[in-house]
Amino acid sequence: MKTTTIKSTLKTLVIAGAIIGSTTLMADGGALYKKCAGCHGQTGEKVALGKSKIIKDLSKADIVTALKGYKDGTYGGSMKGLMKGQVAKLSDTDIQAIADVIGK
Ligand code: HEC
Repeated sequence: MKTTTIKSTLKTLVIAGAIIGSTTLMADGGALYKKCAGCHGQTGEKVALGKSKIIKDLSKADIVTALKGYKDGTYGGSMKGLMKGQVAKLSDTDIQAIADVIGK
């Protein structure tokens, strides 16, 4: 193998590593929101199960407050138990990432 080939192979590996590294560090709000879209709509435009607010109209901060509140039981209406299950495994970073994608 020529030196130039080795060099370019190494360069490719470094770039690939950088891409993989950055995606695992950053929470992907769009990907995380996929499991919510069935009830809330692709962009948060639906009234989930005839109950929720239209979440795309909420501010990012309101979405964060609501999701953290569902987690610790300080927020919600008659169906908050259902949302608690949805957010139980989300970290604060995940919640912020979802709010950034959906909220105003
Ligand atoms: C099975 C249907 C369903 C799924 C899946 C679901 N939700 Fe909900 N969501 C609801 C319902 C119903 C409510 C209203 C609950 C209540 O009574 O407080 C709600 C409420 C909310 C609210 C607060 C709006 C309000 O009415 O105050 C936010 C924000 C929200 N959901 C975001 C999400 C996110 C983000 C996900 C995915 C991690 C998700 N939901 C998954 C049904 C769902």
